[in-house]
Amino acid sequence: MLNIAVDGHSSSGKGVVCTRLAKKLGVIHFDTGAIYRLIAVYVRDNNIDPRDQKAVEKALAKIKVDLKHNDGEQITILNGVDVSKTIRDNDISDMCSIISPYPKCRDFVLKIQRDSAKKYDLVMEGRDITSHVLPNAPFRFFLTASIDVRTERRYNDLIKKGENVTYEQVKADLIERDRRDTQRELSPLILTEGTIYIDNSNMTIDEEVDLMYRTIKGENK
Ligand code: DC
Repeated sequence: MLNIAVDGHSSSGKGVVCTRLAKKLGVIHFDTGAIYRLIAVYVRDNNIDPRDQKAVEKALAKIKVDLKHNDGEQITILNGVDVSKTIRDNDISDMCSIISPYPKCRDFVLKIQRDSAKKYDLVMEGRDITSHVLPNAPFRFFLTASIDVRTERRYNDLIKKGENVTYEQVKADLIERDRRDTQRELSPLILTEGTIYIDNSNMTIDEEVDLMYRTIKGENK
């Protein structure tokens, strides 16, 4: 199977880049953050306190995940309901970085990730794909951008969605999310040896996708 592993900071543009790259390669775009987000939706909608680790881990038994992949897009289904839009709510993003370090949540997602990588050609995107989930993937990328560029992107997205936020709030949230992602004990976001590091602060999406595509096709030598 052709497995391409991609990690990166929040709002580094991983989602859109991986969607386009997967389309160009004709493989599945597997967004693993969506599964952590789906767990957070279940937790929120069932009034479970996200800081109550035991309660969150217990809830996993009641969660059924179905993912459908179509033309680079992923449809995320929680217990039979399409939650692809709901998982992008701002409160879900916050909740997610609280619940994603829980060991049972990580095991729950890991199984789905590894099963899929065995079955399908894919671009798998997340925080621990290059370091933990698929460390032997033949192509591994780490995507990021400066905190100000990422803040601006996220701020513009949220304003477009009609959310009432300030630039400073968005920046503080991103810094906190980076801290949780990089400093948690279990499979934190790290740059591993042999992983290609791309800072896309001054790149267009097309340039970035093209760079990754040419690297995979061996045209970058
Ligand atoms: O990429 P994203 O923003 O949709 O990820 C949502 C959350 O899930 C974020 O808090 C990081 C976490 N996550 C993770 O811990 N491991 C992954 N492989 C993917 C996402």
